[in-house]
Amino acid sequence: MYIAMLGRQPAIGMAELERAFGDVRWFSHDTALVNTDALDIQRLGGTVKAGRVVAELTGTDWRKTSMKLVQAYEDAWSNTSGKITLGISVYGFKVSPRDVQHTGLILKSHLKSKGISLRLIPNEQSILSTATAHHNKLGLSPNKVELLIVKGHSGKVIIAESTGSQNITALARRDQGRPARDAFVGMLPPKLAQIMVNLTGPQPPRADDQLPPVLLDPFCGTGVLLQESVLLGYRPYGTDLSEKMIRYSRDNLNWLQDRFGLHFHWNLEVADAMEAKWLQPIDAIACETYLGQPFSAPPSNEKLGEVRRNCDHIITEFLKNIGRQIKSGTPLCIAVPAWNDGKDNFSHLPLIKKLDQLGYGPVEFKNVNAKDLLYYRPDQVVARELLVLEKI
Ligand SMILES: C[S@@+](CC[C@H](N)C(=O)[O-])C[C@H]1O[C@@H](n2cnc3c(N)ncnc32)[C@H](O)[C@@H]1O
Repeated sequence: MYIAMLGRQPAIGMAELERAFGDVRWFSHDTALVNTDALDIQRLGGTVKAGRVVAELTGTDWRKTSMKLVQAYEDAWSNTSGKITLGISVYGFKVSPRDVQHTGLILKSHLKSKGISLRLIPNEQSILSTATAHHNKLGLSPNKVELLIVKGHSGKVIIAESTGSQNITALARRDQGRPARDAFVGMLPPKLAQIMVNLTGPQPPRADDQLPPVLLDPFCGTGVLLQESVLLGYRPYGTDLSEKMIRYSRDNLNWLQDRFGLHFHWNLEVADAMEAKWLQPIDAIACETYLGQPFSAPPSNEKLGEVRRNCDHIITEFLKNIGRQIKSGTPLCIAVPAWNDGKDNFSHLPLIKKLDQLGYGPVEFKNVNAKDLLYYRPDQVVARELLVLEKI
């Protein structure tokens, strides 16, 4: 059993976990329990830290939890050779960083009296930041430990040992390091691209001699989704109306091959998604569609109406066109625009109410409401609404 610490928008991280692992449930408002034997955090965009659950306590407060922790790890580490680096992160308890640090210092002094040396990572907050955990490589080797102590909504407490945090260095390199970027088409963060690929569901099992499944992005732009799909085991297929974007995607995929020493097949073509004829097979579709023009402030009703109609038309025609070319059951995760009026009231595309008439059914989630799959920052006017669908 693993516990996953979800990112800034927990519902989106939860949906990703549910699609990837199935047996997942909320433990607190921003953590999830995942019933699995193995969880590779580098394949998940919506989880910032994860840990293997080592104990579950009931009827405990911070003082008792802290005492149990000191006792358990004093015993567990009493024969350790080499220096231990320890970080402690506490979720859901009302404790100050000083209280958390105090627990670590007691453990340090007990171990010192047994001749074992421990480096304690200072707690600026009661939860160590992802950056601190990542830069100290916590959870990545037996002597670099981060303990995750989490109080759930039922009052239960889970103790977990981190198995790593999101590799923010690698994500930044894949984002800022690629040769072709274009601020105007809007750049999808790689972690959102990972989430979207994972939201298309687990890949079907395949024989060793079979090529990887094909993931199509018919609005590929600079190719962020294509890049992430390769790292998640797909063969990328990108099309876009703009020749320049196809060139950018090609440059970026070439860079990915060289940079990571990978060899993979890909396909890129200029095509209008409203009338393209794509090559087969298409095993999954993930795309950030045309989002309309960017806005730095909420537009007038008239302007919004015009942009919304235009986006609705392009995306509806795309869905009709691709619907004729994919098999029933083909999964899709498409990001479409929704506009924030500045007070978190969103204006949605009319097509969302007509998806069944277009031949698509929603993928149902146990833990999440589809309307919560809205990715945005508080200052953004254009949000990305994630539609997770299956061809009927
Ligand atoms: C929001 S951007 C996608 C950005 C992309 N996710 C990336 O990583 O750079 C939308 C893309 O849709 C393309 N586009 C707009 N209308 C299109 C259409 N009718 N058919 C295909 N592509 C279209 C644009 O050229 C643009 O590259």
